[in-house]
Amino acid sequence: MLTPRRSAEKAVFNLNEFENLARRYLPRAIFGYVQGGADDGSTIAHNRRALDRLRMVPRVLRDVSSCSQQVTLFGQGFASPFMIAPMGASAIIGPDADNAMARAARSARIPYILSANAITPLEEIGRTYPGCWFAGYQKPDESNIERMLGRVADAGFSAYFLTADVAVGSNRENNRRNGYTMPFRPTARLALDLMRHPFWLYRTGWKTFRQRGMPRISNIDPVARPSIFSREISAVTGYAQFSWKHAEMIRRRWKGAFVIKGILSPEDARLAREMGADGIVVSNHGGRQLDCAVSPVETLARIRDVSGGMTLLVDSGFRRGTDIIKGLAMGADGVLIGRPFLYAAALGGEPALRHAINLLQREIHTDMCLMGVADCHSLREQTVISE
Ligand SMILES: Cc1cc2nc3c(=O)[nH]c(=O)nc-3n(C[C@H](O)[C@H](O)[C@H](O)COP(=O)(O)O)c2cc1C
Repeated sequence: MLTPRRSAEKAVFNLNEFENLARRYLPRAIFGYVQGGADDGSTIAHNRRALDRLRMVPRVLRDVSSCSQQVTLFGQGFASPFMIAPMGASAIIGPDADNAMARAARSARIPYILSANAITPLEEIGRTYPGCWFAGYQKPDESNIERMLGRVADAGFSAYFLTADVAVGSNRENNRRNGYTMPFRPTARLALDLMRHPFWLYRTGWKTFRQRGMPRISNIDPVARPSIFSREISAVTGYAQFSWKHAEMIRRRWKGAFVIKGILSPEDARLAREMGADGIVVSNHGGRQLDCAVSPVETLARIRDVSGGMTLLVDSGFRRGTDIIKGLAMGADGVLIGRPFLYAAALGGEPALRHAINLLQREIHTDMCLMGVADCHSLREQTVISE
């Protein structure tokens, strides 16, 4: 019988399948935190429906023998048009998960975005993948913004993503039901759940504790690193006073590429362009913030019309090569993928992540050839029809 680790490398044939495997081996509280969404989870289901409703019109008899999926984003060349999304607390989901994702992304030449809510200090990731990208939730005061940006720049990150769709933490009933809380509260039920999952308990729980001691949220503040058990971290779910004024402060001080993540309205895309953002991520946070939000692919074309020269990234529910192609054909320059990469990291670390990246690269190659396009740019001319 294959171990979870070997299964994640050998017996998973597409990105969706990591979820089924992870459900078996992760504690209920941990799996639920990754998989779940806000309220009834209707946005998660809707993201899939919106992508599935899109149908493509392929072209034939075009020479696609030199098909290439390379893209250039913010002046950097990458092997593929997808990247690993920022995901908080990853190192308690899988062993050393932030480093594993950064290493796998670096060796595959795709972007990796580290979350402010990560347990791994950003300086460490800056060494693992020099020039990779950072996604901040920023305390809205000028001196904090200044010092935090200094820390991110000193660590060598080349792009700063501002996570903008987290004015407050969302309603995640599944977390409460499963006993996943931030700050972490040990309960008999949670202890039983963790003990019933020895694969996670040894490979991630114990090893993370041995490697880092008490897990801490490391990148939310220029100096403080609150433990996941401390009450201070309830503040990191969002900052209600944060506004465009603070985004402008970041824009003025940050020299690299500046991207606003979590935009769904064409009007907000226009504001982002006018304040000098280099890009936006059209996203509903994978259905984890506002339930009943519109799906990014439903609003992408209208956002493209007002985005001027900004780079357009998109995420939420993208899993297949065909999903990526739909996103690009509708105007995106690249696609972020979240949960499947975190499941892969939890199950099989860097080798499983490399397998996940390969699977998607192969699907994109096949689908581009079947669409009759030889490069990502030409996808823009392809027809996508909504049923
Ligand atoms: C476990 C988890 C943690 C996340 N943490 C963050 C975060 O700290 N910052 C952020 O901007 N987005 C965060 N996200 C959202 C992702 O960056 C991304 O928008 C979303 O996962 C994309 O949807 P997908 O998982 O369906 O691919 C998180 C998502 C997950 C699943």
